[in-house]
Amino acid sequence: MVLRFDNRVVVVTGAGAGLGREYALLFGKRGAKVVVNDLGGNFHGEGNSSRAADLVVEEIRKLGGTAVADYNSVVEGHKIIETAISNYGRIDVLVNNAGILRDKSIANISDNDWNLIHDVHLKGSFMTTRAAWPYFKKQKFGRIIMTTSNSGIYGNFGQANYSAAKLGLIGLANTVAIEGAKYNVHCNTICPTAASRMTKGILPDDLFDEMKPELIAPVVVYLCHEDTMDNGQVIESAVGFATKVHFVRGKGSLIRDSIKDVPTPETVKAKWGKITDMKNAKHFNSNMEVSSSFVSVMDRLKNPLPKDTFEDTYTYTF
Ligand code: NAI
Repeated sequence: MVLRFDNRVVVVTGAGAGLGREYALLFGKRGAKVVVNDLGGNFHGEGNSSRAADLVVEEIRKLGGTAVADYNSVVEGHKIIETAISNYGRIDVLVNNAGILRDKSIANISDNDWNLIHDVHLKGSFMTTRAAWPYFKKQKFGRIIMTTSNSGIYGNFGQANYSAAKLGLIGLANTVAIEGAKYNVHCNTICPTAASRMTKGILPDDLFDEMKPELIAPVVVYLCHEDTMDNGQVIESAVGFATKVHFVRGKGSLIRDSIKDVPTPETVKAKWGKITDMKNAKHFNSNMEVSSSFVSVMDRLKNPLPKDTFEDTYTYTF
């Protein structure tokens, strides 16, 4: 079945270039009415222009699609959502994609470098999502995308500001997914790697040529379809590859022998191998699951097994 977006209104932020442009074009081809948002500045977040968004709107219209430009900064996300409402009367999908870079090592990062990155990535996604929320909730339908980065997940030299904001977006998405679930408002996160002005000179040249942003657009479009029920996922994609990414927690180790003992740095040292052993690592689906694991830890501490056996027989109770 062809995945269509007829009668759906899609907002893509930062859609004047790179990945956002490809998302907007594909949504347009699939029948959506697209709000092409772009501030039109440089990739350090300086300046503004209507040209980037206008060109993409023109492209979508040439392909027979419907689109309108919006030139607001995501920091004023309510204005972007207002563009969707005033032009098309609704909003169904929000792709938080706009982004900038201000790379500096931790020693050299200025307050401004830190604040601007957080404003555009984290606050911008929050402001835009919060503005769309009442419409999503009322119509009991919404699809939201956050955009993270491997720099957030793994860290990257010179990107303390960007890494922090990008991992923050996974935290934001996790809670938005929980709060939206009962209203059929789903929030998933894309972790892309693609050739754009942002990665020119960073990705090796031969890789850069192959890392086309249009290879990632189908993943984002799929995640935003009304039939896609996934919620709270992080999906990494590049060069025609996609995979789910998630946190896992090791099996861990007790660091005291009974409820009466108090752990010491030495007992931590003695158990360090087990604390950091990820052989039997597992994904937890909620904060609640983690909390309930503490109940089984308490049980074990209150009823210790013989010293040389209890670590090996300690199992999760769920
Ligand atoms: P890009 O620089 O080609 O496109 C970003 C667009 O966002 C630009 O057109 C820019 O004008 C717009 N923009 C910037 N600040 C804005 C604001 N305040 N309000 C509205 N629009 C604004 O970059 P690219 O590569 O397409 O990146 C898109 C997203 O993907 C970003 O969030 C980026 O951090 C993320 N990302 C990209 C990766 C890559 O390999 N290209 C890797 C990981 C994440």
